[in-house]
Amino acid sequence: MAELIVALDVQTREEAVAKIKDIGDAVGFYKIGLELFTAEGPDVVKAVKDLGKKVFLDLKFHDIPRTVERAVRSGGKLGVDLMTIHSIGGNAMIKAAADAAAEFGEAAPKILAVTVLTSLDEADLKDVGILSRTPAEQVRSAAYLAVASGANGLVCSPKEVGVLSKSLRAGTIFVTPGVRPVGAAVGDQKRVATPADAVRDGATHLVVGRPILAAADPVAAARAILDEMASVAL
Ligand code: C5P
Repeated sequence: MAELIVALDVQTREEAVAKIKDIGDAVGFYKIGLELFTAEGPDVVKAVKDLGKKVFLDLKFHDIPRTVERAVRSGGKLGVDLMTIHSIGGNAMIKAAADAAAEFGEAAPKILAVTVLTSLDEADLKDVGILSRTPAEQVRSAAYLAVASGANGLVCSPKEVGVLSKSLRAGTIFVTPGVRPVGAAVGDQKRVATPADAVRDGATHLVVGRPILAAADPVAAARAILDEMASVAL
């Protein structure tokens, strides 16, 4: 059964806690990204954990292996459940992240790799020296590298998850943002899928922000998405 993760794209710990309390028992998993973490630091992770929720710490590490290893260890000490790294950091960096996470045994944070940022197109890849691959080819090769190097899963767009989930080993985690229930505002997302499509294509976790956070009734919005996800599992 796929899990719903709500993106806490807010600026303060107070707003984050208020949103989580509003949503209540409907959602048990929250994503803390660069905006909120840079503003509030580890305290906001502790605040979310103290409310009994799981934390996806989405800081997309990309540095030398030793630094990433130590940053992942810091995340493990905070008790986060999912963390992100960039697969472009290479085999040694991914492996360092996976090894540091594994030190936490049963409580190890799962390491997810970002393949190619969805904001990059072929011209951008050429600018950074990836000359011979299309974004889709680069996503596939980065995904294989990440999983072969010890990552537990991938962050991928709803348009990529189908291909990747069929070609990577069972048990790989696929976290998919860009999810919009039918009729919801798309905002700045360009390539979206419905919750049911994403689950059908193999997503294990869906990340949803504005359709829940900005809803007049966030609990109803979350429950509608959960119902749609569950309808696929039946
Ligand atoms: O509000 P919305 O549902 O678009 O939020 C999606 C969340 O997932 C945001 O935190 C966004 O930064 C993140 N994300 C994304 N697309 C990616 C990677 C992450 O929308 N390719």
